[in-house]
Amino acid sequence: MKLSISPAALEKTRHRNVISVAFGQKSWRIFTASGPLGQAAKKRHQLLGSPDEMVSEIIPEGTSHRWAMAVRTKDARMNAEDSRTIGAKIVRKIPSGINRIDIEAVPPSSWKDLLPVLEGMELALYDQKHLGYKKDPKKPRILEVVLHTGTRSPSVRSEAQAMLSEFERRMEAVKTARILVDTPPVDMGPEDLATYVRDRFSGTEISVRIRDEKWLRDNGFNLHLAVSSGSERPPRLIHLTWGSGPRHVAVIGKGVTFDSGGLSIKHPNKYMEDMKSDMAGAAAVLGLFDYLRGMEPPKDMTIHGIAAATDNMPDAASIKPGDVITGHAGKSVEILNTDAEGRLVLADSISYAVRDLGADRVLTLATLTGACMVALGPYTAGWFARGDRWARTISGAINSSGESFWRMPLSENLRSALKSPIADMKNVGGSYGGAITAALFLEAFAGDASFAHMDIAGPAFLSSSHGPYSKGATGFGVLTLIELVNSLS
Ligand code: BES
Ligand code: ZN
Ligand code: ZN
Repeated sequence: MKLSISPAALEKTRHRNVISVAFGQKSWRIFTASGPLGQAAKKRHQLLGSPDEMVSEIIPEGTSHRWAMAVRTKDARMNAEDSRTIGAKIVRKIPSGINRIDIEAVPPSSWKDLLPVLEGMELALYDQKHLGYKKDPKKPRILEVVLHTGTRSPSVRSEAQAMLSEFERRMEAVKTARILVDTPPVDMGPEDLATYVRDRFSGTEISVRIRDEKWLRDNGFNLHLAVSSGSERPPRLIHLTWGSGPRHVAVIGKGVTFDSGGLSIKHPNKYMEDMKSDMAGAAAVLGLFDYLRGMEPPKDMTIHGIAAATDNMPDAASIKPGDVITGHAGKSVEILNTDAEGRLVLADSISYAVRDLGADRVLTLATLTGACMVALGPYTAGWFARGDRWARTISGAINSSGESFWRMPLSENLRSALKSPIADMKNVGGSYGGAITAALFLEAFAGDASFAHMDIAGPAFLSSSHGPYSKGATGFGVLTLIELVNSLS
C-alpha cells in the first residue's frame, strides 16, 4: 500500500473511488458535506444498510465518483484489532480493478482511529503466495491510498505525516516477522536467520552479535546445544541490542527453525508440517527490532533482543529421553520428552540475560505448547508474569495493541509436577496444565528478575484466514512488543 496525504476535502475531489470512515457514531454521519455523495450514501443506507453494518458500498449516483464506501461503527470502545479487522474488510471489498483509493476520517474520528484501519488494510494484502515459491508468482496488489485531511493546517499535516511514518515502520516490522515464519524451513535454518539479521541491521543503531556453536559451548549453553544435537544445521544465538543505558530489559524469542519433536518424534496428527512456525517467537523479537531501527536509542536503558535459534531433529547424535543435561544456569534437567524443546532452548537464554547481561526484566515469546491452544483456542495467546510492575507494564501494552491475549497463572501447586527423581527438574509436567508447567519451567531460570512469558503457539500461525490475516504467519506479538518498548522509553 502506498500512502500519501492531501489537504483537499474528500467530497470536493473528483477522485473516482472514495472511502469515508466514521467511528463511534450512532448514526450514519458519513460524508461530512451534504453534497450529492452524502445524499447517495444516506439513501443507500436507508434502502440497504443494517444498523450494525460497518462497511457499506454505495452507488454514488449523481456524483463524479465511480465507487464509494462508507465505514462506521456505533461502538467507540472497539479495540485496535477490531479496527484492523474492519480495515481488512475494506480491502476485500474494493473491486479488483481499483488501484487508487481516496479516504477521509469523519470527525470526531481522528488519525489515531484511522491508523489501525489502515494497518488492517495492509495486513490483509500480505499472502505467503507472494514469497516467490510459485512458478507463476502473483505480484502483491499495490493500492495507492490518499488520505484527505480537508485542511491546509500545518499541524494537521504533520500529525498525519507522523501517523504515516509510524504506520510504515509498524507494518514493515510485522511483515518481517511474517516472512521469516512463512519461509520454508529449507531456506530458514539457524544460519539463514543469522545472515538475515546481519544484513538487515548492519549500519543501523542496533548492534548485532551472532554466537556460534563454539561460543555456546564455551558459555555453557548445553540445553540449547542438546536440542540442536540431532541437526546437521548448527545452532545460533542472535543477540541484538538497542540503547546503552544502565537498566537492562531482555526480550527473548524461541527460534526453533523446525520442530520435528526429535526422537520423541511428532505424531502425524501433531501438525509437524506447521513446525516451520516454531521460530515465531524469535521472528516477533526481530520484528520489534526492525521497528526500532529508525529510532533514537535510549540513554537510560538497554533493550536486548535474543533469538535462540536451532532445529529439533532426530538423529544418531540426538539427545535421548532420559538424558540429563546441565545448562547455563547450572541446574540439571532430566529430558523426558525431546519434543518439549522450546523451554530447554529458552532456559539458557533467560539465564544468560539475567546473569551475564544483567537484565532485571525479562520477557519470552514462544510457540511453546499445544496445551495453550487447547486452553485458549487458536486465536488467543496466553501470558504469564511474576512481578507486579512488569505485569502492569505488559498488560498496558496488550491493551494498546489490541492483540488477543489472556493472562494465565503461574500456579505454585503445579510446580511439583516438574520434580525429577534424578535431576533438579524434568522438562515435562503432568497431563494437565501443560502451558502453565512450561511457563513455570522457564520462570525457574529467571533468578530475581521480573519475568513474563507469552505462549503464542495458537495465533502466530493460522490454518485458515482469520481477522486481517491470511492462512499462515501473522506476526503475532510484534505490535504488542512495539507498544511495550514505547511505554518503557
Ligand atoms: N512447538 C511445539 C508446540 C506447538 C504445538 C506450537 C502446536 C504450535 C502448534 C512444542 O515444542 C511442543 O512440541 N510442545 C509439546 C510439549 C509436550 C511434549 C510437553 C506439546 O505441546 O505437545
Ligand atoms: Zn516440540
Ligand atoms: Zn517447539
